[in-house]
Amino acid sequence: MPLLKINDDTIRQASALIVRGGIVAFPTETVYGLGADAFNPAALAVIFEIKNRPSFDPLIVHIAALGALEKVADLSMLDMSVRKTLDALTEKFWPGPLTLILPKQPTVPDLATSGLPTVAVRLPSLASARQLIALSSGAVAAPSANPFGCLSPTSARHVQDMLGDKVEIILDGGPTQVGLESTVLDIFSGQPRVLRPGGVPKEAIEAVIGPLAENTALGDGDNDTHAALSPGMMKSHYAPRTPLEALDLETLLQAPVEEKSAFLFFDGASRDKWQKKQKPPQDTLIKVLSETGNITEAGANFFQSLHELDKPELCRIYAQFAPQEGLGRAINDRLQKAVHI
Ligand code: TXA
Ligand code: MG
Repeated sequence: MPLLKINDDTIRQASALIVRGGIVAFPTETVYGLGADAFNPAALAVIFEIKNRPSFDPLIVHIAALGALEKVADLSMLDMSVRKTLDALTEKFWPGPLTLILPKQPTVPDLATSGLPTVAVRLPSLASARQLIALSSGAVAAPSANPFGCLSPTSARHVQDMLGDKVEIILDGGPTQVGLESTVLDIFSGQPRVLRPGGVPKEAIEAVIGPLAENTALGDGDNDTHAALSPGMMKSHYAPRTPLEALDLETLLQAPVEEKSAFLFFDGASRDKWQKKQKPPQDTLIKVLSETGNITEAGANFFQSLHELDKPELCRIYAQFAPQEGLGRAINDRLQKAVHI
């Protein structure tokens, strides 16, 4: 039984395993990660194997304190203005769900960055995650703890169901708070650009560093365009096994209600309107991300709801898009990626 309730003892046990080259699943404020010593190529290779992840998809390196950033990122490569951007962002958003793309230190193995000259770095806000990282090598490479292409895990149970036979220790810290992965932001290759919308909304970043580059490839690009921008950001990703369709409320109100389909609404008001119009059979499986339409609550419930709706007896999940602002962008990005299987 690899599930261990997270506490000082189990964190020590898990960090000792990471130091020995092992793999540990652990909670962060966003989703559960699959962690290995970022400086140990053999351990990194095991992560790719466990996840069945293509080797061109680089990992995020997690650090425990701002002071450790220079261990993995070569800040001497940054000009003054990028340095200022970096300082403003770390001051405001670290620790927290923001991953920054920076030039890598030569000591970071190519396997962590898929041969790229850059490294993705994140300082998580969940204290237990930082404790684990600090007790390990100080730099823990961790993708989300799901098989490649599957729904991200927001509870230890999700990890156990998907990877339980492949991981020696799963630290159980309960459901994650944010529920959506970190925002991935490239500040090094020109005007700052969001490569993956996530836990820190674009609007909050722009309030600190000004306008971000428009990301034309996000949402409407093909897999190759995504891969060129950021390897691993292919269009199909985060998919439940059940086919999913993402629609706005107007379309849902018009669409015929098929048998063996489930429905995921953004808020209670949309569900009520739909139920009144469509009069679905009593036993129709219906979920709502947030009764009151609270976007933070919706984000926290997103993957959990999809895990619950992903049932073999269902033929299709219909999901309503969130408002395209703030965390809603991250939800919609995941919905769009869940459509293309
Ligand atoms: O919230 C999160 O970020 C979670 C938790 C565990 O921290 N981690 C996570 O990792 O979502 P993962 O591996 O599922 O997603 C990392 C994303 C990938 O899409 C990858 O392509 C991108 O970050 N990435 C990593 N290194 C990069 C780099 N050097 N340049 C551009 N994109 C990079
Ligand atoms: Mg992932």
